Amino acid sequence: MCGIVGYIGDRPAYPILMTGLKRLEYRGYDSAGVSLLDGDAKVYKCKGKVSDLEQHIGEQDTHGFLGIGHTRWATHGEPNNANAHPHQSQNGNFILIHNGIIENYSRLKERLIDRGYNFQSETDTEVLVNLIEYIYLKGKVSAETAVRLALRKVIGAYGLVIICTDEPDQLIAARKGSPLVIGVGKGEYFLASDATPIIEHTKSVVYLNDNDIAVIRKEELVLNTLENNHFTPKVQTIDFDIGEIDKGEFEHFMLKEIFEQPRSILDTFRGRVKDDKIYLGGLFEAMPRLENANRIIIIGCGTSWHAALVGEYLFEEFARISVEVEYASEFRYRSSVIHKDDIVIAISQSGETADTLAAIKKAREAGALVLGICNVVGSSIPRETSGGVYTHAGPEIGVASTKAFTAQVTVLTMIAMLLGKNRKSLSDQKYRNFIGELKKVPEKIEEILLLNDLFHRIASLYKDVNNFLYLGRGYSFPVALEGALKLKEISYIHAEGYPAAEMKHGPIALIDKKMPVVVIAPQDASYDKIVSNIQEVKARGGIVIAVVNQGDKTISKIADHVFEVPSTDLALTPLLTVIPLQLLSYHIAVLRGCNVDQPRNLAKSVTVE
Ligand code: G6P
Repeated sequence: MCGIVGYIGDRPAYPILMTGLKRLEYRGYDSAGVSLLDGDAKVYKCKGKVSDLEQHIGEQDTHGFLGIGHTRWATHGEPNNANAHPHQSQNGNFILIHNGIIENYSRLKERLIDRGYNFQSETDTEVLVNLIEYIYLKGKVSAETAVRLALRKVIGAYGLVIICTDEPDQLIAARKGSPLVIGVGKGEYFLASDATPIIEHTKSVVYLNDNDIAVIRKEELVLNTLENNHFTPKVQTIDFDIGEIDKGEFEHFMLKEIFEQPRSILDTFRGRVKDDKIYLGGLFEAMPRLENANRIIIIGCGTSWHAALVGEYLFEEFARISVEVEYASEFRYRSSVIHKDDIVIAISQSGETADTLAAIKKAREAGALVLGICNVVGSSIPRETSGGVYTHAGPEIGVASTKAFTAQVTVLTMIAMLLGKNRKSLSDQKYRNFIGELKKVPEKIEEILLLNDLFHRIASLYKDVNNFLYLGRGYSFPVALEGALKLKEISYIHAEGYPAAEMKHGPIALIDKKMPVVVIAPQDASYDKIVSNIQEVKARGGIVIAVVNQGDKTISKIADHVFEVPSTDLALTPLLTVIPLQLLSYHIAVLRGCNVDQPRNLAKSVTVE
């Protein structure tokens, strides 16, 4: 969603801000803007992409060694020039960029209108910048104090960066519920909503915590809490390189990330699978409670929720612990029953999804032990949980999640195996065999990636259809859901995932000669049943694209097309069968001329509910 960049130092701020905004494009946005301070303040903003903003600015003055930039994903007010950030206060004293939502903005707005303020936009952000200015002018206080006092009146979430034109040697930043990272350079500082715009300048960063306020000058970073308690910045090192956020030789980030999976899965189990044992340091303290759990609840959104479903199958089969999987957005609001001895596992690529964070809070308040499986190091979810596992898949830039999914499933697999072994529901022999099979997954994915041209060819045959159905049973059911989601997200073709046996309770009515049905059918106990499902589709004239094991003799005779994947242990099949589906969606979307890395209306990190 919205992205923030900021710079203060001895270099011209404008190019640094624009490059930073381009790095943030992946988050999803619909307008962009910058502000530079060089004696006077300049604010440029417009609806559209960062390239539209560059055109809009053209030859206008971009001088300044201090500046802020923003990409906006509309929440309050449509995407237009007036609603784009930065927002300037009525008397011009403050300029502000904001991620998040000020929930009590309409009450604050009414009060400001009573005190003579007029508003140019429909945003909650303009209310905040005017509130800060009102307090600053009325109370004759410093900019920092005005920000602090204003934020105490605010209900909601924010990541903010503020310029005060009267105090032109500093930026002020504040965070509550929406991430902010400060990059520490030599005589310069960078600000961003995630580390991607910072990495090309410095690897030293300070992550702001909720209720922190930072005053940032060229030579100094001063941190205080909202209650005005000073504290020393904790400088950390970013754990990825600039190469990881470049497309390299690939046309799109999504394709690059699909092709990275052999390595990202290796990175996920590197150091954690040694000889024939699994070590998960982040779960060490939680292990006794996990082993004795009566119930595990796994929560997540989008693709992470699909990984959670695979987790349910894994945990129930190997650890014999009862599992419930819930959408975080449902779990947080419904009157869910949470016991003190429940374990809640939150899965999130970004570690910032608002619904997942709120669900974690609810579970914690009910006394459950909450653990996290996250990709982005230093993000909010790992801080809000009592332990967990980083997926270490590296930065995922494509909005449609690919390598994060397989990394999440790999982590869930390792936890299930370890729990199974410790609870003695999994024999040592099976545990060791399984680890051996897990280690072979990366090279098996390499084999599937060699078939890329085939996926492209099949994609070209079906790029113009309006509907797709995805079917699977057992471990392949969550994969069917994930395959359908990938297609919807990036190609805008309607697609549904279903448990194969449920087809006859509804989707079968949709099947006709124009309807491709993707069936995920590795050799497993329900193989014969899925063959029958395929026959049912064929009997109604449907087109079957099947994902099968190499050497499959039966389905390859009846399906219209088959994608072969190497055989593996059944519980590991999602890691392989999802790859052809990711590539099929990718090629269909490219052939339809869609913006694969930044699909319309979607955001990478959903920081609002
Ligand atoms: C958005 C993204 C999806 C992601 C979902 C959950 O919808 O576009 O790719 O699966 O959020 O995000 P999370 O970061 O919590 O995994």
